[in-house]
Amino acid sequence: MEEFHKVRRLPPYVFEQVNRLKASARAAGADIIDLGMGNPDLPTPQGIVDKLCEAVQDPRTHRYSSSKGIPGLRRAQAAYYDRRFGVKLNPDTQVVATLGSKEGFANMAQAITAPGDVVLCPDPTYPIHAFGFIMSGGVVRSIPAMPDDQFIPALERGVRHSIPKPLALILNYPSNPTAHVASLDFYKDVVAFARKNEIIILSDLAYSEIYFDDAPPPSVLQVPGAIDVAVEFTSMSKTFSMPGWRMGFAVGNERLISALTRVKSYLDYGAFTPIQVAAAAALNGDGSDIAEVRNIYKHRRDVLVESFGRAGWDIPAPAATMFAWAPIPEKFRSLGSLEFSKLLIEHADVAVAPGIGFGEHGDDFIRVALVENEHRIRQAARNLKRFLSTAEEKLHNVISLNAHR
Ligand SMILES: Cc1ncc(COP(=O)(O)O)c(C=O)c1O
Repeated sequence: MEEFHKVRRLPPYVFEQVNRLKASARAAGADIIDLGMGNPDLPTPQGIVDKLCEAVQDPRTHRYSSSKGIPGLRRAQAAYYDRRFGVKLNPDTQVVATLGSKEGFANMAQAITAPGDVVLCPDPTYPIHAFGFIMSGGVVRSIPAMPDDQFIPALERGVRHSIPKPLALILNYPSNPTAHVASLDFYKDVVAFARKNEIIILSDLAYSEIYFDDAPPPSVLQVPGAIDVAVEFTSMSKTFSMPGWRMGFAVGNERLISALTRVKSYLDYGAFTPIQVAAAAALNGDGSDIAEVRNIYKHRRDVLVESFGRAGWDIPAPAATMFAWAPIPEKFRSLGSLEFSKLLIEHADVAVAPGIGFGEHGDDFIRVALVENEHRIRQAARNLKRFLSTAEEKLHNVISLNAHR
């Protein structure tokens, strides 16, 4: 029987192949250090957990909640944008709570896409950016992931060579997987372009608070006039170590927020009210929870770059996110990122995410997630050192290092 139309457009997750190999290595007794998925390992701060427990005691919270988010939660998100970015939002019309930013992004794609609409999407990027639109009947045209002076010319080519003209463009800075950060000047240029060409901007700011130098990542909504064309997504998952709670937001342009709110009103009743109450308390906090999470990732980042460097693998220090985007060492590059990732599991007991899982332009890289503690990251580096220094000798008749993809 033929696959369903939608399912045929969703290739099996590349990461599944790595996950399967990881599971079988573990079943065979290997101690795999898992730097693969971006699944935060830190516990949610106790104050937020306590708030959840308190709210759940009130039976009124056991009823269906509000799909767009309870008013106190939307007010807390608007206050966060004001404090952090100096952006004023109307919590009734410019803010909607989502079941994680991934759900919000995918349903925004569903809300705004007509069959055949073209979307400009970075490559490499977090998979839902492309597949949210593909599932909605859209067509994706790749643009570079790097926020440099090639970006606007690529957008211009995208407009010139797309029929129909692109509906939307996707930004994701700090980027998963590349960890690139965008400046406010960059956003000014993109907003000017989008306004001139009447293109929607969807900005994924999931890593707004995971940054390591003195310059916090800006919001595209800081650009005057951006609200006319842009919506931005943020997430509680990384900022407050709440990935399993499924809580995020879309904020910005009223027409777009209203479209998403309408679609969601048909699909869900919102997150469980105690989760929304606890999320509001988290956002209204004094910032110390966020600083603590950021500090832990920063130390892990430093340990990663230093220990991998000593192991003979120089990787650029990410300025933000919980990821390092590591070029595959020269002598393994022709294998491609999936084969290289499999080798790391089999011969170094280290799991990473193959760059190809984020798009074809990611295949010379692997992504390392900072989701194990410093001790385990150092252990991974020791394993890698052993692997890198003995691979040629050990693997020459297992796999040709000159094999071409
Ligand atoms: C760039 C980016 N956007 C969105 C998400 C999804 O976050 P959430 O848990 O809010 O759905 C992730 C998670 O890894 C991410 O890296």
